[in-house]
Amino acid sequence: MDPRAYLCPRCGGDHEDPGIFDVHYDYAAARGQLARRADVFRYLPLLPVRGVGAVLNAGGTAMVEAPRLAKRLGLRALYLKDETRNPTRCLKDRATAIATTLALELGVRDVYCASAGNAAISLAGFAAHAGLRCHVFVPSYASPVRLDWLRRFGAEVHVSKGDYDQAFAEAEEQGKAHGWYSRNCAFNPFLVEGKKTCGLEIAEQVPADFVVAPVGDGCTLGGIGKGLREAREIGLTDRVPKLIGVQAAGVQPMVARFRGVQAEAGDTKAASIAVRRPRNALRLMRELRECGGEMIAVSDVQIGEAQRVLAEDAGIVAEFTSAATLAAVESMESLRGKTVVLVITGGRPD
Ligand SMILES: Cc1ncc(COP(=O)(O)O)c(C=O)c1O
Repeated sequence: MDPRAYLCPRCGGDHEDPGIFDVHYDYAAARGQLARRADVFRYLPLLPVRGVGAVLNAGGTAMVEAPRLAKRLGLRALYLKDETRNPTRCLKDRATAIATTLALELGVRDVYCASAGNAAISLAGFAAHAGLRCHVFVPSYASPVRLDWLRRFGAEVHVSKGDYDQAFAEAEEQGKAHGWYSRNCAFNPFLVEGKKTCGLEIAEQVPADFVVAPVGDGCTLGGIGKGLREAREIGLTDRVPKLIGVQAAGVQPMVARFRGVQAEAGDTKAASIAVRRPRNALRLMRELRECGGEMIAVSDVQIGEAQRVLAEDAGIVAEFTSAATLAAVESMESLRGKTVVLVITGGRPD
């Protein structure tokens, strides 16, 4: 395996999906071979690394039952997969654990990514711990709180004059020019392998009917879907829940793509999923089709209300983007009587 083989030279071409590779494993050999540990490296036979990395411990997060919310929403059960308990308080740490492990295995000392905040902060924290140089490219609107986190971790911060899409292009140009290792999940296929461990954990923790997560580029929910399928493949479960992807009504290109309609231009306060040109759309569309899932959009007002309710009725401080999951469930009659998992992807103040 070449850890720098990011894109397929033959496919892609779709400007919304550059042909990101997908990683496959010997699933028969992986059965019964999980490591006795409670972090992402538990799933070592299903990860693209040579061994356990000397990196911060990501994964092994709690599944919190929320009976008061379940009752109020008419669900059989509601669980919150609390990804805020990762080292830098975000699901992104799962992918970063793999990126830093691969950089260390390759002997590369510089890592980079583009991000509205969370992935960059995650990379900066892991790089600080592993002694790597970290270059992050953030959009012009990155919040002061997030820039402060980046500087505390000692990252080299490039603030773009444009949006996330422009920061992404600048990151790829510089990363390529200098030979840094990429932590752009919507480019480096090995990072989705880290995110999928969230799906593997969910499969081991609860028998869910639905798993709900916010969608930007599509790597997070696409990765979770892959993990849920692989869990069945290696005999951890015999069911695969349906995926529900959530976007903000103001920026909903994935919802439009799923429904085969044109996305309208708008805006949202949910900065982490305000991605107008999603780069891992094909993977997520494939996962949604495979499990019979769907994509839905919710307004910023609904998200704000859901963020308040998550804190008041479940004791979870979710970031604005992550609260979109609860807003989605509140608007979906079809989930009544079901067991639902919300992936609380991050908990940092915006
Ligand atoms: C907290 C949070 N949730 C969800 C997402 C969406 O992930 P993806 O872009 O992989 O779809 C992000 C991405 O930045 C995020 O930071």
